[in-house]
Amino acid sequence: MTLRVYRRIDEVREALRVVRSEGRPIGFVPTMGALHRGHASLIVRSEEEQRPENGLTVVSIFINPIQFEDRADFSGYPRTLDDDVACCEEAGADMVFVPSADEIYPEGFSTFVDTEGAYAERLCGRARPGHFRGVLTVVSKLFNIVQPTRAYFGEKDAQQLFLLERMAKDLNTDIRIVGCPTVREADGLALSSRNGRLSPEERRAALCLVRALEAGKSKPEKSGNPPRGSATGAFVASVKASMSAIIEAEPLARLDYAEILDEETFGEVCDTTTKALLAVAAFFGETRLIDNTRTDTDFRKAQDERR
Ligand code: PAF
Repeated sequence: MTLRVYRRIDEVREALRVVRSEGRPIGFVPTMGALHRGHASLIVRSEEEQRPENGLTVVSIFINPIQFEDRADFSGYPRTLDDDVACCEEAGADMVFVPSADEIYPEGFSTFVDTEGAYAERLCGRARPGHFRGVLTVVSKLFNIVQPTRAYFGEKDAQQLFLLERMAKDLNTDIRIVGCPTVREADGLALSSRNGRLSPEERRAALCLVRALEAGKSKPEKSGNPPRGSATGAFVASVKASMSAIIEAEPLARLDYAEILDEETFGEVCDTTTKALLAVAAFFGETRLIDNTRTDTDFRKAQDERR
C-alpha cells in the first residue's frame, strides 16, 4: 500500500472505518513531527505487529499547541513535514494524519482531559505545568479519531507513557498502549526532536545526562547495603545527589531534576519497590532534554535475601 496523507478528520475516519469493518487491526503512532530513528522504530514495531493480521499503521503529525507552556518552545519546535512524510514511508507506515490546529481545536473547544494523580505532579509535571493536560487531551482526541487497536509510545517519555497507560485504564479505553525502548546515538545520547537545536558545545555537554544515569544506576548495583526501612531515604538521597552532581558539574547544563522513583507507581522508592526508574532533565541553553533508565536492582528481593 502506498502512503496516504490525510489532513481532515472526516477523511481519515472514513478510510479507517473501512479498515475496521474488514476486521483488520490499526497500529497508531502519535507524533509531533521532526521524526528521527526513535519514531521510525515505533512505526516498524507497529508494522510488525499489525502485518500478520493484515493491519496497517497510522502516524499522526501534530504539534499540539496546548501541551507547550512556553510559547517560544512551541514556535521554535522543528517543523519538517516533507522529511517526516518520507520517514513514515521508509519505515513502512500506511497513512499519515496531519491535521491543522483549527481541525483539532475548532472555535469553542472547551473540554480537556486531566489527571489528579500525585505522579503527574512530579518530574515534567512540576517543571511544565499544564503539559500533561495538553498531552492527555490531544491523545484522547486522536484515539477517538483513529480508534486504533494498539498505540506506540517511546519509553524516553517515561512519565507520559505512565500517564497514558493510566488514562487508558481509568477511561476504560480498549486500546493497547505499547511502550518501546529509547533509541540512542552511538555515544549514548537519547534521540530527541530537540537535539537538533543544540550547538556543538551543548551537544557535547548533553552527554552529562547519560553519565548521570550511569552513575545513578551503578549505585544500587554496587551497593552491598540494599535500602531498608529508614535507610531507603538515605539511599534515595545519595542516588539523587550523585546524578545531580554530575549534571551540575557541567558548565553548559542547568539541572531541572534528577530523581529516582518506583517504576510501577511513579511514587517514592520504598521497601516494596521492585523496579526503580532513574529520571533526569536539564536545560542546555534554551533546549530542555530528558532521559531515564531503569535499575536492575530488585529492592525487595535484596531485602529478603538479607533477612
Ligand atoms: O510524545 C509526543 O510526541 C507528544 O507528546 C504526543 C504523544 C504526540 C502528543 O502530542
